[in-house]
Amino acid sequence: MAIQDLPVVTSPFTPQVSDEDPLDLIEEIEALKKREDATILAHFYVGGEIQDIADFTGDSLKLARDATKVTTKTIVFAGVHFMAESAKIMNPEKRVLLPDLHAGCSLAESCPADRLKSYQETLRAQGREFETVAYINTTAAVKSLCDWIVTSGNAREIIETKVDKNKEILFVPDQHLGRYITEVTGRPMILWPGSCMVHEVFSLQDLNRAKKNNPGALVMAHPECPPNLLSVADVVGGTEKMRQYVFARKEPTKFLVATEANMIHPLQKIAPWHEYIPVPGIMTDTGETCACNKCPHMALNTLAKVRDCLRDGKPEISWQPYFEQARFVLDRSLLK
Ligand code: 13P
Ligand code: SF4
Repeated sequence: MAIQDLPVVTSPFTPQVSDEDPLDLIEEIEALKKREDATILAHFYVGGEIQDIADFTGDSLKLARDATKVTTKTIVFAGVHFMAESAKIMNPEKRVLLPDLHAGCSLAESCPADRLKSYQETLRAQGREFETVAYINTTAAVKSLCDWIVTSGNAREIIETKVDKNKEILFVPDQHLGRYITEVTGRPMILWPGSCMVHEVFSLQDLNRAKKNNPGALVMAHPECPPNLLSVADVVGGTEKMRQYVFARKEPTKFLVATEANMIHPLQKIAPWHEYIPVPGIMTDTGETCACNKCPHMALNTLAKVRDCLRDGKPEISWQPYFEQARFVLDRSLLK
């Protein structure tokens, strides 16, 4: 078969290009929002042009809480699947749309519900008494098997104040966040071996090179980064903590930011007096850096797809029977 006869396979991560004028798209989105009685929520990791038209932006914790304050009939969640699923779970009566159903998450994928269930059964058969704590970056099926749900913003508080002190902790699926929380709380954990494909690939060597090239710069890193990176960070925190930190610091500072590159947008917006340098992904032999500090799942969100999902009323998150139990766990963990 000649090469031109091979079927064209498009990856779900093919760069999203559109020749539509962004200003026209924004106008269309505004009109459709009114027509469909919709509210747009956007995570800090989607493109700045989407964050700018959203009604609510935030980290995973704030957006999960914001979703419960929405008064319109429809929520458009510009983020990834587990986030839209959580919004639906907390608002069963609302229509929740996700601009692209392929927007998954490497952490959520690393912990399938059937594997977690059988691991929990193995631990129980060994007579171990434990509570399962899940990072919010999990499927609803996994959430329904857990005792607590945490985000990067409240993991410490939940471990310190809610989890039974007389039991072991099984923490899923982010081993790096789990290890970091163990360090700050002193609670040992059984760690699921998952990690985020974006934070996992920052290299210490490249970060050290960036530090050398930017003397005096402070390193800010997300707790999803591996421990060798966290060990050289001046500030460790989730995306909302990063935002609060730069706002509180009035002295103009250079920050090396070790998280998804779109995070620079809200940092620049809230504290424009600092300079932000995204920590690059791995450097290749030819001296170029990969674009791996961009989450390919978050990047599936585009203005055109926000417009399309509002116009067509799909893709929509549909209610599943296990959402009921996931709701109980999410409510007791995230709502104050
Ligand atoms: P936070 O915004 O809660 O820090 O989460 C980061 C993340 O990886 C979301 O997918
Ligand atoms: Fe998942 Fe990482 Fe993308 Fe967040 S940045 S959605 S944790 S793959």
